[in-house]
Formats: sequence, C-alpha cells, structure tokens
Amino acid sequence: MPIYHRLGQIPHKRHTQFEKPGGGLYYEQVFGTIGFDGMSSLLYQVHRPTQVKAIAPALDVSPRLAVANNLTMRKLIGFSIEPQDDFLESRVPLMVNKDVTIGLAAPRTSLTDYFYKNADADELLFVHRGSGRLRTLLGTIPFEYGDYLIIPRGMIYQIDFDTDDNRLFYLESRTPIYTPKRYRNHFGQLLEHSPMHERDYKLPRDLETHDEKGEFLMKIKKGNALHQLVYSSHPFDVVGWDGYNFPWGFSIHDFEPITGRIHQPPPVHQTFQTDAFVVCSFCPRLYDYHPKAIPAPYNHSNIDSDEVLYYVDGDFMSRNDIARGHITLHPGGIPHGPHPGAYERSIGKKETQELAVMVDTFRPLMLTEAAIAIDDGKYYQSWLEP
Ligand SMILES: [Fe+2]
Repeated sequence: MPIYHRLGQIPHKRHTQFEKPGGGLYYEQVFGTIGFDGMSSLLYQVHRPTQVKAIAPALDVSPRLAVANNLTMRKLIGFSIEPQDDFLESRVPLMVNKDVTIGLAAPRTSLTDYFYKNADADELLFVHRGSGRLRTLLGTIPFEYGDYLIIPRGMIYQIDFDTDDNRLFYLESRTPIYTPKRYRNHFGQLLEHSPMHERDYKLPRDLETHDEKGEFLMKIKKGNALHQLVYSSHPFDVVGWDGYNFPWGFSIHDFEPITGRIHQPPPVHQTFQTDAFVVCSFCPRLYDYHPKAIPAPYNHSNIDSDEVLYYVDGDFMSRNDIARGHITLHPGGIPHGPHPGAYERSIGKKETQELAVMVDTFRPLMLTEAAIAIDDGKYYQSWLEP
C-alpha cells in the first residue's frame, strides 16, 4: 500500500527505547516485503513475537491437479462450491500456476479459534456476498459486498462474518499486489487520470492490543502446507505501528470506469498489478458514444495470457447464458470474443450494469479436480452459429 498510515502509540524516534507504563520495553518489529527494499511497517509489541511454545503436525493443502495443459475454454459454476464452516477449509483452489492460486470460498463461520497468516502470498479476497470485519495484527477493516481486501504476506489475521451466507472469490499471489504503476507518480500518489483515489481506500483502524499469555494456535500457509505453531502470547499485541505495509480494502463500487467514443481496451479496467497477473474491474458504465460504435468487445487473441472472468452481478453483455458466480476461462493461444448475437445486440445500447472481476495471468493456468467438477463441459462450443 503506497501511502503512510499509523495507529496507536509509537516512540518519537524509531529504534529507540519505548517504555511500557509499568516498566520494561515494548518490542519493535520491522515488517516488510522484498527484503528491505519493499514497503514496510514498524510495529511495537507487548511481547516478543518469537515465542513459539509448540509445533503441531503440518497439514498438506496441495491443490489436486486435474488438467496441467489446458487449451479448452471453460465455464465453471461457482456457486456450486459447497459452504464449509471453517474459513480455511472453505477455500477451494480452482486454477493455479507457480505465481497464483485462484479459488472460491463459502465460509459459514467466523475465524476466531485460531490465527492465520499466509507466509508465501499476498491474498486478495473479493467479497461477493456477506459482510463483517477483517481483524488483523495492524487493525480492523469492516467489509461488505463488492470489497477487495488486500492482505500482504505475513499479515496475521482473523475474520468475522455477520451471517453464515458468505461468498468469496480469492487470489493468493506469490508476488506483491500493487495498484497499477501507470496511475502513480514518482512519489506513489495516484494521478488525476487514475480510476481510484486514496480517499477510496479502506484503511485499518481500531487496533486491538491484547496483553495475554497462554496458548495461541497460528496456522501458517507456506509451501502448500498449513503449519501449526502454538505461540505463548496473544498475536494481536501491537500497541502502535506506522509505515506502508498493511492490509487495506477498496470497493469495486468506487472504481470509476474510463469510457470513450469507441471501445476501450481491457487495461482501462485494471485495478491491481503484480509481476505475474493483472486484476481488472468491469463496472456499470456508459457505453461508447460514437454514432457507429459497437459496445461489445471485438474478438481478441490473448496469446500471452490466460483470462479468468468472475461474474458478480448485472447482465454481462458479451456473453449468453452467464449468471452470478460463474467463472469463465479463456486460455491464451486461441481467440475468444462475444457470443453469437451479442455483437449486434449491443448496438445502440447506452449503458451496462455488468459487474465482474477479471484476472489475466501471464503464465498458463492448471485446473484442479474441484474446477473440473463444476465445469459445464460445453462452453467451448458456445460460439457455434445455429
Ligand atoms: Fe477477453
């Protein structure tokens, strides 16, 4: 997150004595990414963050692959994913490569009886259904329908849901998730032509500081295993922090679409970037206004990327027979485009209410057994003319 933020109490000068009111010192921790080269924060904690009491056996969470080399256009029926009580067990990885895991989750209960962190990947949780609070080491972010939650690697968190009806589209990214570079100036500030503004960001607040000893289970995802470490003090014991590395949220409803007289290319929808994929938001917007404009997209050959579209709401104008929670995969190497009739149907239309999240990966995606189980199996033939 390229802005500075702070919560709680911090000493006047970094790396100096910060005394507790009852005597003793708070423990400082530098929490950063990309070695000492990326964004970082300085944390002040009641207890040493290193006090591991016990280690339980690790659990294997490797995705079970079904298709390693895919050149089939697919449609996955996302809401067929069964809800599960546990937040982590509810996650169903669908498409994976060495850079990213793309999946769906329908967690029924809040995560409160253990703590979690992903040591390998930045996580992006897109909230399709449900609301609640992301509670982290560095503060709380309330969330609702349409929110992207960006959780940097290593961030300890729990999550509260208001009801048992929750649907998440999630990414685990092995490279950091940033806002698009072309929208930022030399200092990191978003520029005037950016579809997002710093004012839109949902920043952590309401820092929780627990001075508590005992046994606290932390599940840590690293290398396709869920490691289970028991810590001797409450992980949420930060009295204050400042810096640039922290979780944050952004609502897809706050994305300001860029429109034009003729069809604008997909990069205008870009919301996030990584070294290995981009994330785009397709939002309700006015259509192209050239008198001869064709609002539906042209056929395109995404030779260099696999394209994943997650349909959130509204009528998706370029596709027939698409519903909420569906995921389409258009693999790199073959062209794709509007369905028969969609091209003509779009002419003269003034606006769209479509809402979708797109992920374009630069390396091909492999499909898991869970993905094949919800694949409609016939989508690849859906462009055939009657
Ligand atoms: Fe496309």
